[in-house]
Order: sequence, then C-alpha cells, then structure tokens
Amino acid sequence: MKKMIPDFEKMKQVGEKISMLTAYDYPSAQFVEEAGVDIILVGDSLGMVVLGYDSTVPVTMEEILHHTKAVRRGAAQTFVVADMPFMSYATTDLAIMNAGRLIKEGGADAVKLEGGLDIAPIVQILTRAGIPVVGHIGLTPQTANQLGGFKVQGRDLESAKQLIKDAQALEQAGAFLLTLEAIPRQVAKQISTELTIPTIGIGAGADCDGQVLVYHDILGLFKRFRPKFVKQYAELRSTSVQAIQEYHKEVKDGVFPSEEHTFAMSDEVIQKLYGD
Ligand code: KIV
Repeated sequence: MKKMIPDFEKMKQVGEKISMLTAYDYPSAQFVEEAGVDIILVGDSLGMVVLGYDSTVPVTMEEILHHTKAVRRGAAQTFVVADMPFMSYATTDLAIMNAGRLIKEGGADAVKLEGGLDIAPIVQILTRAGIPVVGHIGLTPQTANQLGGFKVQGRDLESAKQLIKDAQALEQAGAFLLTLEAIPRQVAKQISTELTIPTIGIGAGADCDGQVLVYHDILGLFKRFRPKFVKQYAELRSTSVQAIQEYHKEVKDGVFPSEEHTFAMSDEVIQKLYGD
C-alpha cells in the first residue's frame, strides 16, 4: 500500500527508518517500487547520471516533468517526490507555477527545494497552497559553487549552528521531510532529535530518520565519480557492457538471430509465392 505523509511521521515516532531512492524513468521506478522502497525521488541528479550534464544546474522544468511522468507510470503505488530545478523557484510566482506543474502534470506527491532560512518564505507559500514540500540543506548541489564546491558542510561551530537554524525554519515553514546532505553525523543527529518531521540523510550518518541514495550509484551504473557516502550494491555497468559485447559479436559472426528468434511461413505459401 502506498505510504503517505502521516505514515512517514509515524515511522519517525516509532523509530522505523524511511528508505528513499532516486528513479528517473519507467523501468527504474518499477524496480524501486518492486523492491519496496518507501519514497522515490526524481532527483535533479537526473542531469548528471541520465542526461550527461556536468552538474545539476542545466536541468530544466521540462526535463524533470518528462521524467516525473515516466516514474509515476512505473510506480503508481509509491510516494514520489520531484526535485525543483535550479531557478525554477527563484521567485514566489515561479515556485507556485512550477511546483503546481510537477504535482498536476507530473503526478508527483511532493516537491523538493534546496536551501534553508532563505527559502523558508517560499516553502510556507507552497505548503499553504496545498503543495507538500521536502527541504534539502547541507551540501546543496545547485549552489555548490557558492559553498566552495562539493564539500562537507557544517563542520565548524558557526556553520553547524546555521544548519540547525535552517532546519528549524524549514520545519516551521511547513516542510514535512528534510534532506540532510554531506554534514557531520553529530549535526544530523542533533537536527533529527530537535525536529518533529523526519530527516533523510545522504552522507549524514546513521542517526537520520531515513536514508536516500542515487539509483545509478548503488547499482554501479555511474562511473564519473563516487562520493564517500555511496555504497554500491551491484556492478550493472560491466554486466551491461558484457551483454552488449556478446550481442555485437553474435551479429558480426552470424550467430544471432538463430531459429529460436526467427519467424517462418508454411511451405505451401512459400510454394505459391515462388511459383507465381
Ligand atoms: O538530486 C538528487 O538525487 C538529490 C539527492 C542526492 C538527495 O537531491
């Protein structure tokens, strides 16, 4: 049965961990749903692991929307969160229009925005308009340049205090879930204890209320780089390349297609065909 927002709150209360994984298309969404994962994130990591961009910055609304629709078709019984692309929530009007599209046209159950105190007013407007919001603080890839690159955040006193303030502001603004990316586990633990909404960590330690990772990372499908927080559970890239090499060789050698993969017609019809 599809889990909804009150189920995630309850899971935090009883100490049941929440699993979240990204998916970007119909088959990956089907696999993630079949595996029983609680929440699917159509992350803007889409830009890097599926579309081949260098960062998440170029990802457009149309791209996220297109992939969210495919994920919805593949996982009708799973709670789906869609990432709002960089600049798609730069103003209140843009945020309402674009979040509304992800819910109405894309079929998402909620949207995720990067930022803390600075975006709390937008989170409040969206939640008041009836759009469920997931926050995302710590290492926020859309603004990684401002953070000095892809680095662990909140290691010193001032930035740790700022993260705690950001988390509180997002909860007060109405976010129902908070992603904590690449922060020390002690800060993540403090935030998870202070907040009533569940926290979902990625590189934030085991004390978060749940965990999220990228589909292509856990399956060994993305080789450009691998952050320390990623655990790889399979090696599907080499399995795929081997299978494709075999196909390529069999075509070249005339081994494929064999009788098994070939259609035939009756001798009688052939006779008539050639006989004319
Ligand atoms: O885009 C994404 O996949 C994300 C997760 C890494 C949290 O935001």
